Amino acid sequence: MARIGVIGAGYVGLTTAACFARLGHTVVCADVDEAKVSALSRASVGAHEPRLAELVAEGLGTGRLRFVLGNRAALADVDFVFVCVPTPTGPDGAADLTFVDAVLDEARGTVGPDCVIVIKSTVPAGTTERVAAVIDRPVVSNPEFLREGHAVDDFLRPQRVVVGAPGPRGAAGREAAVRVAELYAGTGAPAIVTDSASAELVKYASNCFLAMKLSYVNSLAELCERVGADVSDVTEGMSLDDRIGGAFLSPGPGWGGSCFPKDTRALLSTAESLDVDFPLLRATIDTNHAQAHRVVGLVRDAVGPLRGARLALLGLTFKAGTDDLRDSPALATATLLAAEGAVLTGYDPCVSADCGPVRVLPSAEEAARDADALVILTEWPEFADLDWEDMASTMTGRSVVDTRNLLPPAKVTEAGFHLVPLGRPTP
Ligand code: NAD
Ligand code: UGA
Repeated sequence: MARIGVIGAGYVGLTTAACFARLGHTVVCADVDEAKVSALSRASVGAHEPRLAELVAEGLGTGRLRFVLGNRAALADVDFVFVCVPTPTGPDGAADLTFVDAVLDEARGTVGPDCVIVIKSTVPAGTTERVAAVIDRPVVSNPEFLREGHAVDDFLRPQRVVVGAPGPRGAAGREAAVRVAELYAGTGAPAIVTDSASAELVKYASNCFLAMKLSYVNSLAELCERVGADVSDVTEGMSLDDRIGGAFLSPGPGWGGSCFPKDTRALLSTAESLDVDFPLLRATIDTNHAQAHRVVGLVRDAVGPLRGARLALLGLTFKAGTDDLRDSPALATATLLAAEGAVLTGYDPCVSADCGPVRVLPSAEEAARDADALVILTEWPEFADLDWEDMASTMTGRSVVDTRNLLPPAKVTEAGFHLVPLGRPTP
């Protein structure tokens, strides 16, 4: 079993650390956030991630996992260092590598001669190669594909493990890449060992492809509305073709989260910097920006001018199953609604503090009190089970815009509501 250092205890770093400890490795997980390290050392996990707190407690209990403030202890006396720090969007749309570079600077003077540095943060093609040229240690790329809300399951049962070494295939770094792939032996996942630029691109290509599928289906939903088709039936029909598949075909208020928006922009920036025209990717991003405006249009059509309209927004996180509000389409929509003068209340099972223009209340019923319309923005399953007779008695208006096609149409309309779904005929 290996000694592993993990730098950054965020969604990816913490999951990596806790899961490697679960797989039997000894892990030191470092962060620069004192409050986070102190909480994690007490097994207090802030993120809403199934099983993560359990695995952290287990790792602390067995002694295979510990948390440290500052990176030194996670860089020295380990066999592998996993770099899991943020790579946000820079001012020009490219990935900002400041955090990664800072960690690698620290690693240069600290890691032992045989230690393998593993870049798990999402970084543009060519980054690992650049780092390897200036650091006298094996460096490999090992992108992460976990989804928030499923982080532990995705890490312990990944569909693939991708590791890339710099230099041409067959170069010395390949041995280090194979050693990294072996760390995941307990997961049973197929491993692809390749060059580092390819590994880095697998990550961007996957996220951007999924985002493209979603922009496609969001445009398709609008077309369905115009021709009187039902997008659910259309996508079901498409999904029975094995070559298409059924995943990532649900329309919504736009795709968001901490990665799709930044990764699509970063890949487009890479392409532009190399004079590669990638109109599909540009259209994927533009279509997504337009989607929040389209939702605002549907709300306007349902309630009339938005100035002074009281709207209850259900769901604020970027998708169900997470407490993450980063780049949430719900908040992008809220900002546009507020800019037109709407007065916003909101409810989300994972959000308690007010968010931008949204006054957050402790229940859907309280958020809906005296509202002119209700807008479903995140697909939390509990919204489908609301008592619509009850909602009707507390609301002033009778419009419900369901951007996730989550609600049972019959129940909502029987309670006297005018339901506006996405890409489906109005019931
Ligand atoms: P995050 O913001 O949740 O966590 C990053 C952590 O790194 C924070 O706790 C921060 O305090 C810490 N940190 C920052 N600078 C540091 C330093 N110099 N030394 C030690 N710690 C430092 O980020 P995340 O969502 O885990 O994303 C990390 C990387 O993984 C990004 O490149 C992201 O694109 C990629 N990724 C994220 C996901 C996801 O679902 N969130 C999935 C796959 C890949
Ligand atoms: C996504 C990828 O799915 C992960 O594989 C990847 O590792 C991760 O990004 C990352 O690089 O950070 P995540 O951000 O957790 O994971 O979210 P997804 O579940 O992919 O959803 C992204 C967005 O698409 C959300 O806003 C979601 O509501 C939306 N979506 C998803 C739809 O609108 N319709 C769908 O059918 C599916």
